[in-house]
Amino acid sequence: MSDKSRRTRPETRAAKAARPDQRSDPKVHYKLRRKIPDPIWSLSEIVHPLKPTSPRRNCLGDDQTNFAVLGVPPVGNVEAQPFLKWVGGKAQLLAQFDEFLPARVDRYFEPFIGGGAVFFHLKHRLPDLRAFLRDNNAELINTYVVVRDFPHELMRRLDAHLARFLADRANYFYHVRAQHHLSASEVVERAARMIFLNKTCFNGLWRVNARGEFNVPVGSHKNPNLYERANILAASHALRDVHLATQDFRDTMNETRRGDFAYIDPPYVPISATASFTSYTKEDFGAEEQHELAALFADAARRGARLMLSNSDVPFVRNLYRGFKTHTVQARRAINCDGSKRGAVNEVVVTSGD
Ligand SMILES: C[S@@+](CC[C@H](N)C(=O)[O-])C[C@H]1O[C@@H](n2cnc3c(N)ncnc32)[C@H](O)[C@@H]1O
Repeated sequence: MSDKSRRTRPETRAAKAARPDQRSDPKVHYKLRRKIPDPIWSLSEIVHPLKPTSPRRNCLGDDQTNFAVLGVPPVGNVEAQPFLKWVGGKAQLLAQFDEFLPARVDRYFEPFIGGGAVFFHLKHRLPDLRAFLRDNNAELINTYVVVRDFPHELMRRLDAHLARFLADRANYFYHVRAQHHLSASEVVERAARMIFLNKTCFNGLWRVNARGEFNVPVGSHKNPNLYERANILAASHALRDVHLATQDFRDTMNETRRGDFAYIDPPYVPISATASFTSYTKEDFGAEEQHELAALFADAARRGARLMLSNSDVPFVRNLYRGFKTHTVQARRAINCDGSKRGAVNEVVVTSGD
């Protein structure tokens, strides 16, 4: 045994002895995780600021090492959560949805991805799922692409946004909100802007005007949490082989074929005149689109695709999907600005096949 190893061994033993105690204290975990630098990534960022590294190294390599040292589950074992707040998000309904989700899926389609709660849930359950995620909101799809390909650059930009927001509050919010015309190639800036505005605006909405410009006012967040590092990395990992595209629902519905599974979550039919919210993008989604979607649902079911669709539980929707199995789930919805009108509402789930 060398002098050097004799000298270091007691310290190593002491360090090992300390770890089980640290593991049992989540606060110590958190502090330790934050202190560990990310040298491999930092280097690649300097060389190629916008070059995507292999998703495996990017999302699992350095961060998995950190998690492994600390006894925290690696990225692939963590179920990612939506990284945006999205009207109609399905996170709260996942337990009620489980009975409708198939045990085996080859190709999975979502024509209206929104916050992606159902995709992240299913992907965690079925890691081999081949997913095709679509939405006609180009800013949203860009954000998914950037979470998948550039998670570390994205988090750095979000840190910069947060620092400037804490210094200049509403002024900074409106400065970023006015950046409607970032160029198409500024993908990371656009994604960071979307997450920043979504997490600091009033009620966490993404709503645009007739020109397609985001128009929600600033919220009253004192110390907004723009992202969770572990969640961005878990989402990046879940998205690693996913096909993402800005696409109208008609094209996505027509892509499905026998054996595919699609979860279809369109903008909901309003349950009352004041509860209407369909302005995710500048094209509204009205009765005509709901009729077209129902017809495409019937076509896809005839081709042998397995389908699951959710919408408001109103006679118009039940009538559109008569002939298919319908189920009722309960959601708490907070779309109305008047807090007293928030509460439990029934939603309908329509399924095709067995
Ligand atoms: C109810 S949200 C989806 C909610 C989502 N499943 C979730 O869990 O958060 C509806 C989505 O449909 C998208 N959308 C609206 N019109 C569309 C169209 N014609 N084609 C494709 N997507 C559309 C909106 O951008 C929005 O993201």
